[in-house]
Amino acid sequence: MEKNKSQERWGNAEYAMDVGVLLSSTNRQIERRVCQRTAEQTQVNEALVAQILARQQVEEALRQSQKQLSELIEHQAQIKEDERKRIARDIHDELGQNLLALRLDISRLQERTRHSHPRLHKHTCIALNNIDLTIKSVKAIINNLRPFILELGLQAAINWQLDEFSRVTGLAYRLHHRSPENEQIFSDEQTLAIFRILQESLNNIAQHARASTVEVSLGFSADHRHFFMDISDDGIGIGAADIKKHKSFGLAGIRERLHAFGGQLIIDSTPTNGTTLSISVPVRESCYRNTDDGIAE
Ligand SMILES: Nc1ncnc2c1ncn2[C@@H]1O[C@H](COP(=O)(O)OP(=O)(O)O)[C@@H](O)[C@H]1O
Ligand SMILES: [Mg+2]
Repeated sequence: MEKNKSQERWGNAEYAMDVGVLLSSTNRQIERRVCQRTAEQTQVNEALVAQILARQQVEEALRQSQKQLSELIEHQAQIKEDERKRIARDIHDELGQNLLALRLDISRLQERTRHSHPRLHKHTCIALNNIDLTIKSVKAIINNLRPFILELGLQAAINWQLDEFSRVTGLAYRLHHRSPENEQIFSDEQTLAIFRILQESLNNIAQHARASTVEVSLGFSADHRHFFMDISDDGIGIGAADIKKHKSFGLAGIRERLHAFGGQLIIDSTPTNGTTLSISVPVRESCYRNTDDGIAE
C-alpha cells in the first residue's frame, strides 16, 4: 500500500516533469513562431512601405508630367498664336500692299481706257472686280489668323464670331450675357484663349452636332470670382467613346488651356438634350473686387 503510494507520487512527479518539458518546448516553439511571424510581418511591412513610397514617387512623377503636359500645351498654343500673328503680318505687309498697288494701277488704266478703248476698259473692270474679291478674301484670311476684332474687346469678338458662324452654317444662335464693362479682367492671353475655345466649340457643333440652334451664355459666378461661358447646342450629343477618340484633341486642348490659368471645363451631353460645354475662368482678384458696378445686363 505504502509502495503503491510512493509509486503514484513518482508517477505524478514524472508526469509533472513531462508536462513541464512539453510546456517549455511548446513555449520555445511558440516563441520561435512569433519571432518568425514578426520577422515575416516586418518584411511585409517594409515591402508595403517600399511599395507606398514607390507609388508616391510614381504619383509625383505623374503629377509632374501632367503639369509639364499642361505647360507644353499652353506653350504650343502660344507658339501657334505667335506664328499666326507673324503670318498675318507678312500677308498684310507683302500681299496686301502689292494687291493695293495693283488695284491702283488697274484703276488708273480703267479710267484711261474708259472712252478710248472700250474693250480694254471692259477687261480692266473685270480685273478690278477680281482684285477686289482677292483683297476681300485676303482680309478674311488675315482676320482668321489674327482676329483684329479682339482689339475691340472680348464681347465684340464673341458677337462677331457668332454672326460669322451663323452666316457660314445657317444655324440660328442666341446670346445671353452679363458682360464685363471692364475688359481688363483678363490678360490678352486669356482673352485670346477664351475666344479660341469659343471657335473650337462652334467648329465642333458645325462638324459633329447636327444641331439647329446654338445658345451662348456669358456671365459671372455669384461672388464674381469666376467668369463663365456656356455653349449649348440641341444636337445629337457626345458619346462616351467620342471623347476618347484617337487623334481628337479639340476638347482635350480646351481642357488643358483652361487648366493652364486655373479654369475648368465641364461637359454635359445627352442624345436628347444636345451638348453644353461650360467653361469657367478665375477673374483677377484686383478686378472682381470692382465688378459689382462693372457688370451690365
Ligand atoms: N457639340 C458636339 N456634338 C456632338 N458631338 C461632339 C460635339 N463636340 C465634340 N463631339 C464629338 O467629340 C469628338 C471629339 O471632339 P474633339 O476633341 O473636338 O476632336 P475632333 O473635333 O477633332 O474630332 C468629336 O469627334 C465628336 O464625335
Ligand atoms: Mg474639334
